[in-house]
Amino acid sequence: MSFTVNQGEMLALVGPSGSGKSTLLNCLGLLDKPSAGVIRYEGKDITRFGKRETREFRRDTLGYLFQNYALIDNVTVGENLEVSARPRRGAKGQRGAVIAEALGRVGMAGREKELIHYLSGGEQQRVALARLIVKQPALVLADEPTGALDDANSAIVIDILREMSEAGCAVVIATHDADVRERCDAVYAVRDSSLVGSS
Ligand SMILES: Nc1ncnc2c1ncn2[C@@H]1O[C@H](COP(=O)(O)OP(=O)(O)OP(=O)(O)O)[C@@H](O)[C@H]1O
Ligand SMILES: [Mg+2]
Repeated sequence: MSFTVNQGEMLALVGPSGSGKSTLLNCLGLLDKPSAGVIRYEGKDITRFGKRETREFRRDTLGYLFQNYALIDNVTVGENLEVSARPRRGAKGQRGAVIAEALGRVGMAGREKELIHYLSGGEQQRVALARLIVKQPALVLADEPTGALDDANSAIVIDILREMSEAGCAVVIATHDADVRERCDAVYAVRDSSLVGSS
């Protein structure tokens, strides 16, 4: 397979269950390693990254959004966002403002003090989105981010990912959701390794 996703672009990975969408995302996110081939990010083959480059790539470039939200369950909304707020964002007070703004954008304003495990699935995914907004990654990998959500929450997730891509982020989404696919700029079918559509 061969494909490119540019800054400002949103790419849908589609294909039947077991075709390898999650595996591919995991390779892009350096959670798994392909047995052959190269994956270039800004010209560098990321599959050859050592420990340090891998850590820096994850910290500085990558944002992940999972179907099961992947939040720290037993702490608050605010604490989940704190871990993604970069040190360069300065003092704690300033970070607080950045976090508050991100929560506002996902319809969770003022919910910093609530514990994750009391939130609904849709609310948890919106916290995960706010965490991405705070992190400002250049590359977002999303594995069925709307897979467990109702239409209203799915729309929020896609709207925010769209906004992030329009702000210059590259977004790759593995999905079975036709609404998500339609909002993407291009669709890559993992099974037969061909670009089936773009706009
Ligand atoms: N390192 C590996 N070596 C061999 N096979 C693997 C490896 N990693 C995953 N697989 C297999 O590859 C297949 C693809 O799985 P994957 O989870 O990527 O599919 P998917 O397209 O995300 O499916 P779904 O739509 O159900 O999420 C599975 O059968 C899995 O067991
Ligand atoms: Mg999968």
